[in-house]
Amino acid sequence: MSIEIHPAVASCLRGFEVPDRLGFGTVMAPVMFRARCQDGCWSTGELVPYGPLALDPAAKVLHYAQSCFEGMKAYRTRDGGVSLFRPERNAARMAHSAERLCMPPVPESLFMEGVRTVTAYCANLVPASSGESLYLRPFLLGTQPDLSVSASASYEFYVIASPSEAYHAGNMRLWVEREDSRAAVGGTGDSKVGGNYAASLLSIARLKKRGYDQSLWLNPGNRRTVDELSGMNFFAVIDGELHTPALSGSILEGVTRDSLITLARELGYTVRELDIDIEELLARVRDGSCSEAFACGTAAIVSPISVLGDDNGEYLLSSVPGPVAVCLREALLDIQEGRAEDRFGWMRPV
Ligand code: COI
Repeated sequence: MSIEIHPAVASCLRGFEVPDRLGFGTVMAPVMFRARCQDGCWSTGELVPYGPLALDPAAKVLHYAQSCFEGMKAYRTRDGGVSLFRPERNAARMAHSAERLCMPPVPESLFMEGVRTVTAYCANLVPASSGESLYLRPFLLGTQPDLSVSASASYEFYVIASPSEAYHAGNMRLWVEREDSRAAVGGTGDSKVGGNYAASLLSIARLKKRGYDQSLWLNPGNRRTVDELSGMNFFAVIDGELHTPALSGSILEGVTRDSLITLARELGYTVRELDIDIEELLARVRDGSCSEAFACGTAAIVSPISVLGDDNGEYLLSSVPGPVAVCLREALLDIQEGRAEDRFGWMRPV
């Protein structure tokens, strides 16, 4: 596929300076990739200056939330190069999310062209400090201006990028969310769609007032087993084994989750994907047989959990990151940042 480069791209990149303090997702790269789809036919991709989108106020996405997105990263490797981490996984997950919302999946070749082009043109913006990266956000929108509840005939696919630090540094205090649900069984819980995140915001606002950082969501069907956090998967170390909720249909199949499971098994841990009953988990934290818990995600990498709280009180884990979280975070970053051999074939140099 050929791609069109807007004449202003070179000057946008030349004039751009990366600030010292990055934060997460606040510094935006000055270029973005765009492709359009009309009645199932995709246009040629273009690299254009970053800027506001022109959307008709009646665009389907604004009313019926026909949109999905991905989160993925390009890393600066030890040899000075830049590599994407498992991008085909994100392409496949985005296709799954798109199909769930009756949108045309972005062809894998176009998706890869978008993330590769943005990464290649922004190679100088990829940070070199460990744990920092170029965070890429591909997203797809239904743009047809028409208020009928039906799938859009037109779509736009974008890839924007942000040189970023990790999303959560750790020591997270989680509130067990027993009032609300985030995504219905049979709904969109295993798809990466904005509505799932919108549905988590009220819970987060409530728990922040109580001094917590993140909600721990329970399965919306049984309201008893652990699903995930609002933007991260959950792991607990119980009797020395690594436990993580089985993919129940209401959990996002995290790329980092899958990578940590692979690395943990390689390191000799027993890993179980299973139903984790919340009451049993809290009892295990209380009696010490749950020695640590952590969350993981592309943006967050591995983020240790220090406290689980609910109306009955606080269940303390540890204020320092546990050894399993530390070991897995290092093992993952060692591959992503090129300090260890890419023995699972995860890295894609750009
Ligand atoms: C990611 O980890 O890439 C996500 O999309 C989660 C988001 C809450 C930052």
